[in-house]
Amino acid sequence: MTSGIKRKVIMGLGASLVSLIAASGVYANEATSERHAAAATQYRQALFQLVRSNMGPLGGMAKGAIPFDESVMKTNAVRLEQLADMMSDYLVTDTRKFNVETSAKDEMWEDFSDVEAKIEAMRAAAQNLASVVEAGDTDGYRAAIGKVGGSCKSCHDAYKAD
Ligand code: HEC
Repeated sequence: MTSGIKRKVIMGLGASLVSLIAASGVYANEATSERHAAAATQYRQALFQLVRSNMGPLGGMAKGAIPFDESVMKTNAVRLEQLADMMSDYLVTDTRKFNVETSAKDEMWEDFSDVEAKIEAMRAAAQNLASVVEAGDTDGYRAAIGKVGGSCKSCHDAYKAD
């Protein structure tokens, strides 16, 4: 193989890799097919299931249904922060053109910078909860959990249909 042909082959491989990555949805903003939209919706909802599984016990503690448990609070706060870190990538794929089963409102893809601000509010609230627990500020637990819950509600009010 001459080096020129080699270079072409390598460039071709590079290009198909790029389109493969784009088709996976993380970098593309618009779903490109019904199948792509269905997968993006499934991942989006799966992420929120993980969010829910970490928020559930915290909500129970704030309501007084279960005792405050510092270890669970800290672990779950850190996980919520990590889930917030990946949230933008999972929400950015615009699935409006396709018939998918979703509670996401169309407005979500109209001004995505506002969605990112709401994600950041969730991340900051989760980080605050971790610091409050770290500091052993027991009087602040309920309010810190409340702030995380408020960040969910603020985004749901704007972008999630009931
Ligand atoms: C930045 C916006 C945003 C934030 C922040 C947010 N959500 Fe959501 N959530 C959504 C949207 C949009 C949907 C609808 C997803 C869909 O149906 O495609 C959703 C769906 C859900 C679902 C249903 C998932 C499913 O299987 O259909 C749960 C549970 C949920 N959110 C819990 C939470 C909790 C708990 C928090 C806070 C800790 C939170 N969310 C924070 C936007 C957000």
